[in-house]
Amino acid sequence: MAIKIEPLDGPVGAIVHGLDPSNPLSDEDFNSLQQAMLDHVAIVAPDLEENVPWLRDLGSRVGPLVPHVLDQYHHPETFEVSIIARNTGTPESRNTAKPAGAFWHSDLSYEENPSDAIFLYSTQIPSQGGDTLVANMCLAYDALSEATKRRIAGLTATHRWGWNTGGATPKLSEQQSATHPDVVHPVVRRHPNTGRKILYVNPGYVMKINELPGDESDGLLEELFAHALKPEFQYRHKWGLNMLLGLDNRSSMHAAVDDYSEPRRMLRMIVGCTEKIGKAA
Ligand code: SIN
Repeated sequence: MAIKIEPLDGPVGAIVHGLDPSNPLSDEDFNSLQQAMLDHVAIVAPDLEENVPWLRDLGSRVGPLVPHVLDQYHHPETFEVSIIARNTGTPESRNTAKPAGAFWHSDLSYEENPSDAIFLYSTQIPSQGGDTLVANMCLAYDALSEATKRRIAGLTATHRWGWNTGGATPKLSEQQSATHPDVVHPVVRRHPNTGRKILYVNPGYVMKINELPGDESDGLLEELFAHALKPEFQYRHKWGLNMLLGLDNRSSMHAAVDDYSEPRRMLRMIVGCTEKIGKAA
């Protein structure tokens, strides 16, 4: 069955109809899904029966799946899937002050090779709240003034794990820290598939702009974040049970909303990087 893509009325998102986790995706359907992620930054597929190998295969067709640094939350069947659970009363449930991902970020920007895309799949959701916000960083770049575009061209930023995450990230073990030094990425990236320019900074992991003195760097970052977080670039994703959300991680940043106390559990597949952009700080 050919899938159907229905764009949402907004700056981000398209619904994918007709995905069936009991069958492998045809090449034609996979190509349509991948194109939808490039065109709309996020895809949403509701009511998919839970099938971990199918989810893992879908993610790995987009690119190589990479393990998250927090190896204590890897799925027991495979490191290619992480569990993001809260209030579930199980050992996998996280106990940080705020839920995982409850700060604006782009996954793995604190690594030399950040993530091209992620897939989140809901296996438990609260009766209210627990949404995920997504900002379109291509639109945010396009809407910058020409003067700001000139000012940030050629600048680089230092990204650090857990920099400004408000208690949502656990402290890394000594071994995890050793493999996660600060990294440097360009402030403006060009998307390798769409050719569009992306404002590639996020409040959670970006510490500073390297070429500017401290107060100027802080001021510019504050200005860029305030601009990128304008409502006109954002999508608020409301979860249903057994729903898939795929994000082009290069063109977006996202944040989990910290407003629920009931159980919430997601499976996450992280697609690695297919182009080299970063370097050690
Ligand atoms: C994440 O940041 O990867 C998790 C987002 C969420 O749980 O909504």
